[in-house]
Amino acid sequence: MRTRFEPAARLQGDLSPPADKSISHRAALLAAMSAEPVRVRNYLDAEDTNATLTALRDLGVVVESRPDDLMIRGGGLRDLSETGIPIDVGNSGTLIRLLPGWLAAQDGGSWTLDGDESIRGRPIDRIARPLSMMGARIEATEGRFAPFTVHGARLHGIDYESPVASAQVKSSVLLAGLLAYGEVAVTEPLPSRDHTERALARAGVGISRRAIAEPDGPLRVEVANVDELEMEAIDVPGDLSSAAFLIVAGVLVTGSRLLLRDVGVNWTRCGFVRILERMGAIVLGDFEARPAADELPTEEPVSDIDVTHGPLVGTRVEPEEVPLAIDELPLVALLGAFAEGETVVRGAAELRVKESDRIDAVVDGLRGLGAQIEGTPDGFVVTGTGGLEGGVIDSHGDHRLAMLGAVAGLASREGVTVERMDAATISYPLFMEHIGTLS
Ligand code: S3P
Repeated sequence: MRTRFEPAARLQGDLSPPADKSISHRAALLAAMSAEPVRVRNYLDAEDTNATLTALRDLGVVVESRPDDLMIRGGGLRDLSETGIPIDVGNSGTLIRLLPGWLAAQDGGSWTLDGDESIRGRPIDRIARPLSMMGARIEATEGRFAPFTVHGARLHGIDYESPVASAQVKSSVLLAGLLAYGEVAVTEPLPSRDHTERALARAGVGISRRAIAEPDGPLRVEVANVDELEMEAIDVPGDLSSAAFLIVAGVLVTGSRLLLRDVGVNWTRCGFVRILERMGAIVLGDFEARPAADELPTEEPVSDIDVTHGPLVGTRVEPEEVPLAIDELPLVALLGAFAEGETVVRGAAELRVKESDRIDAVVDGLRGLGAQIEGTPDGFVVTGTGGLEGGVIDSHGDHRLAMLGAVAGLASREGVTVERMDAATISYPLFMEHIGTLS
């Protein structure tokens, strides 16, 4: 599907971005792990998160879709049914990494997980390793890809030092830790998003975190096993990563002013806003302040966000900022093309194992629209040229690249055609409609 985005005169309006993808996946999984039914409001209705609901139904969980919410009735933490058929995660990296944490702890059960072509190219050894160290057996294609089979076991404790700052890896180990016999701790080299920790704390789980060595350094999270999760009803906030496309459109298109309602502003998700502010953008909201390293907030803060068009200067994104802005880094490249001076992102090699190789795809894509951008092994360097001409960009089936192309088109001089725009339905099915209401 080819979609054309003409340069926009100015964007104005007021809307609620879609529900948070990360929090929706976690809400559904944790609700399914609860003995009592759990009500989830504002669950993201998109391909990625619907794959989680299908997977849960295949596991015997009752998911009732009602007009205003979802009701999820699981059977508690243990004795999960075997599916007999592969669990299809679709395009979802979060589902394929988090669900095995739970499956690995089902003693005697086996499940095979598979997904689309993009998923089959993304590493799962990063979760297979700690889950195997805890006692599960995982048989993966070439040792590190889907399809793979998880053979559950009685798990033991682990003190796992993750080589990557990945919320998916951390969450997988924490979910396994709910059922493990012995202490479970996971240390990540840099803080990553902490939605799992907050949700577990709300569910009455003994979970804590502390900084190792220095306040900005590695974080260690410890979780205690439990008999039951005590989940309250969950309200999913708006997704800052989806809102980010609208924010950038508002910042780049001359004369724009946007109000985005009810967006999740957890500190571990707002790295992009901090980068934008450094570039000189006017983005107002009640963003969460950084909690002390050993403090674990339990709530997910929400705010309206007010965006105004304005000029930008280039910036340097340092490795420690990367995990907290990981999904928005392609947008930093786009902003860099409009900013004065140079914009550099380093320490972001993780972008190469996302839904596409987001370094190559962003560099090729934006260069094709007229940007001066060079890729590096772990990031990119953009020299601002005051804007973009336009042209054609391929999403490579990656939802965030499709929306990047669309925003580039609105802000360009001549317009942009996006190949495979339909990929946006993975996380933001109403994207086209929302852009239409703002133009
Ligand atoms: C996610 C974590 C990030 C992010 C992804 C969603 C999550 O991946 O890129 O879109 O929901 O935990 P990593 O944790 O692997 O960096």
